[in-house]
Amino acid sequence: MEESIIKIRKLSKRFGTQEVLRELDLDIPKGMITVIIGRSGGGKSVLLKHIIGLIKPDSGEIYIDGINIVKEPEDKLNEIRKRFGMLFQEGALFDSMTIEENVAFPLVEHTKLSHKEIKERTKEVLALVGLTGAEKKYPSEISGGMRKRAGLARAIIAKPDIILFDEPTSGLDPIMSAHIDNLIVEIQKRLNVTCIIISHDIQSTFRIAHKIAMLFEGKIIAEGTPDVMRALDNPYLKQFIEGLSEGPIQVVDNE
Ligand SMILES: Nc1ncnc2c1ncn2[C@@H]1O[C@H](COP(=O)(O)OP(=O)(O)OP(=O)(O)O)[C@@H](O)[C@H]1O
Ligand SMILES: [Mg+2]
Repeated sequence: MEESIIKIRKLSKRFGTQEVLRELDLDIPKGMITVIIGRSGGGKSVLLKHIIGLIKPDSGEIYIDGINIVKEPEDKLNEIRKRFGMLFQEGALFDSMTIEENVAFPLVEHTKLSHKEIKERTKEVLALVGLTGAEKKYPSEISGGMRKRAGLARAIIAKPDIILFDEPTSGLDPIMSAHIDNLIVEIQKRLNVTCIIISHDIQSTFRIAHKIAMLFEGKIIAEGTPDVMRALDNPYLKQFIEGLSEGPIQVVDNE
């Protein structure tokens, strides 16, 4: 495929005796949408947190434009983090701040832009995600779909060149999910950014991905374009895509 902006090599991480990532390799193509799929508790969020340096691996490398961030000191890592926007799985809006304040936060924290410029830019991204009018509301006063869109606005406001989305459509109705998908595709095109999305939603995955990677038992067991993934004769992937309880992936009762 095209040029990779991120290269992950032999990434391993365990928590206590639980091995979550096992010598995982993955390349993320630049300026495209890569969707990572996999079972609940399979380590997808842990993988994303490694990519922005929030978790250190036990071993392995993560190259961002050729720099191995695992070896970088905290101050350099902070510089590199400015290239990223992140929509956390939990939304992670600050309850005590209005939507406007939440969305403006990355600019207030990390830039020297004037109050006026921040205000304008905030207005612009809120309009982009369809939240004009909700500026003064608090997260508890708006719906789940609106909170996701506010998180999306916050993830893009500082014009990152890599955006990570952890389950941007979970818990939303199919219409709102499709709307968020369209927004992500539009933002990706407009800003020409690299997007990494974690998703459980197979329909949406095939709709928006340029590349799909399936995480299973700590490794990427299948990857490729949607067409390649559809055609692959991998029983694990097939079971996942088709959503079957019968197959090589066993559901354990205490999960
Ligand atoms: N900081 C941590 N300390 C200990 N265990 C952790 C930590 N973070 C994650 N884990 C464990 O690692 C495993 C993978 O978690 P992770 O959140 O990455 O799963 P996931 O694939 O994102 O699942 P979901 O689809 O449900 O969000 C889980 O068993 C989780 O309990
Ligand atoms: Mg997760």
